[in-house]
Amino acid sequence: MGAAWTLFGNPALRLIDSERAHSLSMRALKSIGESNVGQSVLNSLYKAPEVPIEVFGKLFHHPLGLAAGFDKGAEALLAWSAMGFSWCEYGGVTRFPQEGNPKPRMFRANKHRALVNRMGFNNPGASEIRKRLADRKSSNLWPNNPVAANIGRSKKVPNEHAGDDYASTIDLLWDHADMFVLNISSPNTPGLRDLQDRDYLESILKSCNSVRSKKGDEKPYLLKLSPDALDDEIRGTISIAQRLGIDGIVATNTTIKRPIPLTTQSRKAFSSEGGLSGRPLQSRSLEVINTAYDETNGKIPIVGVGGIDSKDSAWEAIISGASLLQLYSALVFNGPTIVSSIVKGLKGRVRESGFSSISEAVGYKHI
Ligand SMILES: Cc1cc2nc3c(=O)[nH]c(=O)nc-3n(C[C@H](O)[C@H](O)[C@H](O)COP(=O)(O)O)c2cc1C
Repeated sequence: MGAAWTLFGNPALRLIDSERAHSLSMRALKSIGESNVGQSVLNSLYKAPEVPIEVFGKLFHHPLGLAAGFDKGAEALLAWSAMGFSWCEYGGVTRFPQEGNPKPRMFRANKHRALVNRMGFNNPGASEIRKRLADRKSSNLWPNNPVAANIGRSKKVPNEHAGDDYASTIDLLWDHADMFVLNISSPNTPGLRDLQDRDYLESILKSCNSVRSKKGDEKPYLLKLSPDALDDEIRGTISIAQRLGIDGIVATNTTIKRPIPLTTQSRKAFSSEGGLSGRPLQSRSLEVINTAYDETNGKIPIVGVGGIDSKDSAWEAIISGASLLQLYSALVFNGPTIVSSIVKGLKGRVRESGFSSISEAVGYKHI
């Protein structure tokens, strides 16, 4: 079981191609997650304390979940809970299967604790994932924690038909997620970010809303924002989305901006085309959380994601207005112990600040 340990944050893995390291981790996690022994060992190594919070009418053991993109094919859902995450988001899933962009398409800047990726929604497509998840459910291999599905637009579908594309994917996955994240902010599918424009956005939300009405079940829809939009544009997008009944905001996706490189290795990563995640994204994501909280008057839940890698960055996101949190890059650089270490830190901050629960701290900075 050193297995899970060796998967992340291991210096040897940093020497091999980033995507290969990720595939090795996923393969091991899938098998560990599906065995009872594997789950209990992960649990004993990585169990996080309880810092309960109720969001979207669901109880989360604590706010921290796995961000989209790590488990694109929904292969290791049980492993994420056993690793201490209180919820996870699988995908991005598209209606049609996609290979994604040619490799290499994932790069590390270790000194900056940052990743650059241009995966391009490589995934087996909504029908295959639905089949996979139906099999898991019927074999009792489904986590007790909330599961979100990240939905992207298929590359071959033009923006004019994006509404139908998103809606069909949600329709297919309806029974296999507790909430749906509409991803209109990945930089790696040409034209995707244009979907933040009013007409496209309205059409997507209306199409998705009609699926929800048909199903007669109020599963929450969240909209994932780009950190590269201007604040006024972000406010505009949120106000349209709120008018059309969006239930939550995810702030943020990766950025196409770059910090100044520190080393040759980061120069190589930063000159690669794609979206940057990890520590350099943290301050902009925080700004977007603050803007979203302000624009919505704290009325709809925000998921904070981008550079969260410590109790301090997690706490900042909470007091800026995030009810839930996610991370991806910190798992790569710090390994799985980062989950319980952040959650322990949050528990301490709640106590030290004199709050009776973490929900009292959400958006506290704005008071
Ligand atoms: C390799 C990789 C693939 C990603 N794929 C997706 C995706 O399919 N959908 C999505 O909404 N976000 C995707 N993301 C973005 C993450 O969910 C997250 O928003 C971003 O990485 C910032 O968080 P972090 O700084 O903790 O990594 C991806 C990120 C990485 C590094």
